[in-house]
Amino acid sequence: MNETLRAFLALTDAVIITDERHHIVDVNAAYERITCFERKQILGARASIVKTQFTSSSTYSSMHAALNRKQGWSGVFINKKSNGQLWHSSISITPYQADGTWYYIGVFRELEHLPEGIYVAEERRSSIQGVLLKVLAISCEIRDPAIEEHLTRVQQLTAQLIHAHNNRLSLGLDHDYMQSIVHSSIMHDIGKSGVPEGILYKPGPLTVYERQIVEMHPLIGVDILEKINSELNDSFFKDEMSVARNIILHHHEKWDGTGYPHQLKGEEIPLEARIVSVVDVFDALTSRRPYKEIWNQEQALAYLVEQKGKAFDPEMITSFLSIIRQA
Ligand SMILES: [Fe+2]
Repeated sequence: MNETLRAFLALTDAVIITDERHHIVDVNAAYERITCFERKQILGARASIVKTQFTSSSTYSSMHAALNRKQGWSGVFINKKSNGQLWHSSISITPYQADGTWYYIGVFRELEHLPEGIYVAEERRSSIQGVLLKVLAISCEIRDPAIEEHLTRVQQLTAQLIHAHNNRLSLGLDHDYMQSIVHSSIMHDIGKSGVPEGILYKPGPLTVYERQIVEMHPLIGVDILEKINSELNDSFFKDEMSVARNIILHHHEKWDGTGYPHQLKGEEIPLEARIVSVVDVFDALTSRRPYKEIWNQEQALAYLVEQKGKAFDPEMITSFLSIIRQA
């Protein structure tokens, strides 16, 4: 091995040198000590022998993207030792050219020992949250046999719409915020569990009194959410809960201030509620309900366009049309 390259192995921190295809060319004594792998066993093996599912795939993709551009990269991994024990490492990797060949020099330091099972990868955490919120939403609306399909469609359309809206207007929305909107969209009508069945599924028009009861469902929904929140009292769901609250409370507000329950107007209505209100109405119009005929897609889109600036955020309708027309 090139002498300059060999000099890196003299560092006090753990050092791993790999070739361009991430096969181990050499490691130093600190690497052996920290990982419990013996140098001679692992020469030629892939550097991923210490990899675990607890490091998010986005960490690996950002690392690969930087290294492919021959740029350095730093980050934190949750790796495993030869005995399977987890450990937390801060690593910086530098591409280095010696004798016309590229190598990657990884220098890392053990941050702490981790009891197995304490760490949940970001994607796994997100998927657990998604499943729990879906179960909750379906349980609250279990009286409606078609609810699961409606909620799933609302969630899928919300995901498409938030990304299209964010890209089209270059809003720079945070990934976790957008993910919270997608997860929470499924909860928008949990308050319907507090509305009597005879009113909720009544064929034909509602009386004034019945309408007032139906229009209480956002407030009932927030009550349910707050009860759940006080039980959970866990930062695990904190962001989801505040986004969910906005959606549940405000998905029937209208852009022109004539909605309910608080008659919010324009951008006073949280973005997450403006998104879900468009998607929810579109899906309700294009589905069969006891009190209405099914509309085709063109009729529903014509209604949304007609309500642009009245019920709905005009920019949101433009973004929504762009995703439906592309489909
Ligand atoms: Fe609703």
